[in-house]
Amino acid sequence: MAFNLKGRSFLKLLDFNQREIRYLLDLARDLKRAKYAGSEIQHLVGKNICLIFEKASTRTMCAFEVGAMDQGAHVTYLGPSGSQIGHKESMKDTARVLGRMFDGIEYRGFGQEIVQELSDYAGVPVFNGLTDEFHPTQMLADLLTMQEYGEKPLSEISYAYVGDAHSNMGHSLMIAGCLMGMDVRIASPKELWPSAEFRKPAEELAAKYGGTLTITEDPKEAVKGVDFIHTDVWVSMGESDDVWASRIKQLTPYQVNAELMAASGKSSTKFMHCLPAFHNTETEVGKDIFNKFGITEMEVTDDVFESPAGIQFEQAENRMHTIKAVLVAMIGS
Ligand code: CP
Ligand code: NVA
Repeated sequence: MAFNLKGRSFLKLLDFNQREIRYLLDLARDLKRAKYAGSEIQHLVGKNICLIFEKASTRTMCAFEVGAMDQGAHVTYLGPSGSQIGHKESMKDTARVLGRMFDGIEYRGFGQEIVQELSDYAGVPVFNGLTDEFHPTQMLADLLTMQEYGEKPLSEISYAYVGDAHSNMGHSLMIAGCLMGMDVRIASPKELWPSAEFRKPAEELAAKYGGTLTITEDPKEAVKGVDFIHTDVWVSMGESDDVWASRIKQLTPYQVNAELMAASGKSSTKFMHCLPAFHNTETEVGKDIFNKFGITEMEVTDDVFESPAGIQFEQAENRMHTIKAVLVAMIGS
């Protein structure tokens, strides 16, 4: 190992330096190759990992489970209902119970302070599987995917995130690129710009690592010359359904469509999305939004989503390899 991340929690990118993130990306790449080659060595045999999901998940949940099981660990899933968490038992007490049984705990839920409290009291590494503020494991997958498709060092790669930037994905993509010394552009209406609380550390990281951070209201300006265009849903889990009307109004000019892809000025620009995405009406929410607002596509049009530029499923696969790297680095033997 290049250096030791054992025993660390993975709560937010701001807790790590560039070298540590690089190490996790290298480890993920090695684990991915080993899995493909059938030569994976198990570092988590005999470990038990608790997976707490207070919000829904497909990718994160499956990535933790498959990553852990590939490495020989056992997992226990605690969903939004069925445990005592929150209803009859505080997070502080839950942490002190689970920490005595498990070697590591994943948490997906609401405020960042909850996962922080879990980590403060569990006594074992805690992994943030998404909070209202951050989605750090997603960032490892996004960086690995950009590294694979960018065919140049991360520090020479540029990307834009277009859409709701006052969100876990907006904050995380702003910080991740600055930490890796990349050219980062964020485009959204001013009311949905990233929280100032996180913008300041992102700017400090960009200055430290030679990156650039541009935050603008102009989506076409933001995507000019970029290698990757990212977006995310316009309303995140945990937000009220009442905000759909205003978000659709605010964010329609930020939809990733063929015109915005072309505005990059490069035919090689790739489209990325953490998923799930609203690009048609084949979902309950998609149908409901169509019935209420008459639109069939939201943050990305179906033609862009289904085009060769779309690498969102490769990005989704990389969730597993990168989450596996976090588990191996932090609780592996
Ligand atoms: N991208 C992501 O976190 O997906 P899930 O909500 O399915 O876990
Ligand atoms: N911003 C989205 C990300 C989902 C992976 C949400 O929090 O719902």
